[in-house]
Amino acid sequence: MIRESPRIIQISEIRDSTGSIAIVEPDQLDLPFSIKRVYYLFDLDQGTTRGFHAHKELFQFLIAVQGEFHIKLDNGRGMVKSVILRSPSIGLVVPPGWWREIAVMKVNSVLLVLASEEYCENDYIRDYPDFVNWQRLSS
Ligand code: TYD
Repeated sequence: MIRESPRIIQISEIRDSTGSIAIVEPDQLDLPFSIKRVYYLFDLDQGTTRGFHAHKELFQFLIAVQGEFHIKLDNGRGMVKSVILRSPSIGLVVPPGWWREIAVMKVNSVLLVLASEEYCENDYIRDYPDFVNWQRLSS
């Protein structure tokens, strides 16, 4: 299995007096995957937490296009990372093998997700002890 660490990538921007554009060009940003699916979380309750799963193969690139999210990532092997996303000019690469918990910190927050695969429920691990076991077995 590929073992990669999550990382923040700066997204290029064009700003002028009327507003801003953020541009995601996978090759320019050195994204470690090709994008097969785009989705976004919206209409989210402030203070709610989502996620509570890991993926076996899926890579994702998360962008807080509006609002603020606190992301907790855990590799099930003792490494835990916390990332605050509150700028549309950065994105977070979440490789496979990371349990994620996504807290919605502001009203009207929108999280854009670029994903390496189409939706596949078999790629999810939704039980934390199962995830730790899966990590142990895949060493
Ligand atoms: P899930 O990925 O668990 O959302 P979150 O991590 O934000 O809590 O997805 C929630 C539900 O939506 C789940 O039943 C699977 C379904 N779903 C799809 O059918 N297709 C998709 O592309 C996504 C992302 C989710």
